[in-house]
Amino acid sequence: MTAPPPASSSTDQDYVHHPAVRWLHWTMAILIFVAIALGVVAAYLPVGQEPRRSLLELHKSLGFTILILLVVRIGWRLMVAEPAFRRPLDRSTRLASRAGHLALYALMLFMPLSGYLYSGAGGYSLPWFGLFQWPRLLPRDPGLSHWGQVLHDRAAWVLGAVLAMHLAAVAWHAFVKRDEVLSRMTGRTGAD
Ligand code: HEM
Ligand code: HEM
Repeated sequence: MTAPPPASSSTDQDYVHHPAVRWLHWTMAILIFVAIALGVVAAYLPVGQEPRRSLLELHKSLGFTILILLVVRIGWRLMVAEPAFRRPLDRSTRLASRAGHLALYALMLFMPLSGYLYSGAGGYSLPWFGLFQWPRLLPRDPGLSHWGQVLHDRAAWVLGAVLAMHLAAVAWHAFVKRDEVLSRMTGRTGAD
């Protein structure tokens, strides 16, 4: 849902994402990049030993944090319309961007859930920065845990591919089309 064009008394702020949306986007982007890096490094290290164990503790803690922030972000997204465009995008670009953002939301949800399936059903730890353990809502089941691992791994590749497309699309808007897409998320409206 995109907001209708603002009335003639519109300000620059009508054309950029709300500060809370921008904060959530950039904070979660950093957490997701760090979580991916930790997960990839840990996956190549010997099982059950340091430093894999500590890296995965941090990886899982970040994963749970991402899930909490995602709930807030989805709630916001359902209640508040996206800002209008000064120069609306053409139909195919708009559809491609909707599909890409929807896929990113689905993957941001699927990654922690499949990780939870893997670790929860496997009887592994479910930590949050050494402060407490998240409840284990699943029975201990090696088969289920294996499925979680397979899904987590496959989805990680899909996330990598969709993220690469997201970054390529942002670069195309910023450097080729030179439109307002990047400034909507940075909040720097002066360049328009
Ligand atoms: C948005 C959140 C998350 C992202 C982006 C993410 C991403 C990744 C990536 C890229 C890997 C390396 C590829 C692989 O072997 O699967 C990985 C591994 C792993 N992740 Fe996650 N993950 C997230 C959340 C979680 C959560 C919440 C848990 C558990 C509660 C978890 C548990 C694991 C484990 C145990 C591994 C090691 C896999 C192995 O050695 O085979 N992840 N994750
Ligand atoms: C350096 C990395 C990144 C850059 C430069 C970037 C840039 C942007 C920009 C410019 C927009 C605004 C598009 C618009 O208003 O039409 C946007 C939206 C979005 N981005 Fe990113 N992004 C990055 C990383 C990520 C990551 C890691 C994710 C999640 C996995 C993500 C998910 C989204 C989503 C879901 C939207 C739609 C707007 C919303 O609902 O918040 N982005 N991004």
